[in-house]
Amino acid sequence: MIGQREDLKGERVLVTGGAGFVGSNCVDRLLAEGAAVVVLDDFFTGHADNLPDRHPNLEVVRGSVADFSLVKQVMEGATAILHLAARNIIVSTRNPREDYEVNIGGTLNLLMAMREAPGARRLVYTSSVSVYGNPRYLPINEDDPPNLLSPYSVSKFAGENYCKAFYESYGLSTTVVRYSNVYGTKQRPDNPYCGVVAKFFEAAMAGRALCVHGDGEQTRDYTFVGDAVEATLLAAFSPKAEGQTYNVGTGREVTVNALAELVLKVTGREGAVERIDRRDIDNIRRRVVNIEKVRRELRWIPSLTLEEGLRRTHAWMEGGAA
Ligand SMILES: NC(=O)c1ccc[n+]([C@@H]2O[C@H](COP(=O)([O-])OP(=O)(O)OC[C@H]3O[C@@H](n4cnc5c(N)ncnc54)[C@H](O)[C@@H]3O)[C@@H](O)[C@H]2O)c1
Repeated sequence: MIGQREDLKGERVLVTGGAGFVGSNCVDRLLAEGAAVVVLDDFFTGHADNLPDRHPNLEVVRGSVADFSLVKQVMEGATAILHLAARNIIVSTRNPREDYEVNIGGTLNLLMAMREAPGARRLVYTSSVSVYGNPRYLPINEDDPPNLLSPYSVSKFAGENYCKAFYESYGLSTTVVRYSNVYGTKQRPDNPYCGVVAKFFEAAMAGRALCVHGDGEQTRDYTFVGDAVEATLLAAFSPKAEGQTYNVGTGREVTVNALAELVLKVTGREGAVERIDRRDIDNIRRRVVNIEKVRRELRWIPSLTLEEGLRRTHAWMEGGAA
């Protein structure tokens, strides 16, 4: 377990998408652990104010993972890579070509650049449980068949496969984490794909009704961002994680209706729930993952209950410490 600050001294970690929601939480944690960090982000959905204003161990490069010569430059001296840069599901559904160029092309660029970077020991690719589509069995295991129902899940899965192929063909040390509905600090409701938790908080705190798409009985497995970061760092620095794929969730299946109730409880607001039409991206009915593999191999378990995670998120949204 990475818990000691001195553990990451001497590491130089390239974080793509480091100005985004999960990426910036990774950056905070890496800096706190003593690592030097290089962020590559085109600020498509990322924000400069997610990152420390000035930090002696942080370098921020504005640019795209789709730019191979830039990717080669920022890879220089990196000892590990956390690859989080991606076009999100909404952009991807509107413009599959842009998704293809960034999510698939960007991942290929990083892997090709890593081949020429002798000091780069591990690349962690952040995939998504969306690769499982509408699963036949619950909870979902890592080796259950993929079911690619959106261009986004196609591109995220293609990135995984490139990581695996570069591991098998060239011996590059890669690890895949499949995040399940991450929520928490720095998830900004102004990002159109911020996820339901941030949208519920925004509505509840403004005294508006919480909009539920469909009947609200669809289920998800919600992961607090601090826990997702911990799993990602274990994937980056644990020898056992090489060549592996891990679900990162909680194993708890929660309906959107139950989530809405909890957000209203945590915010202490009386609020109505408004039912609106389901969107074309809401084609998954139930989802909950099995986290036994990451628990057993990386000794990772989620540290917070959903209610505790929501309380921290609320504290951050109110402008306090999380
Ligand atoms: N948040 C979740 O619930 C969730 C679930 C599953 C998977 N993921 C994956 O985790 C990663 C991070 O997601 P997030 O929720 O923090 O989203 P986010 O949109 O907040 O972060 C993505 C970051 O990537 C940057 N980016 C986009 N295109 C880029 C490009 N061409 N070059 C460089 N930077 C680029 C954005 O500006 C942003 O800072 C993504 O790869 C996403 O697919 C997230």
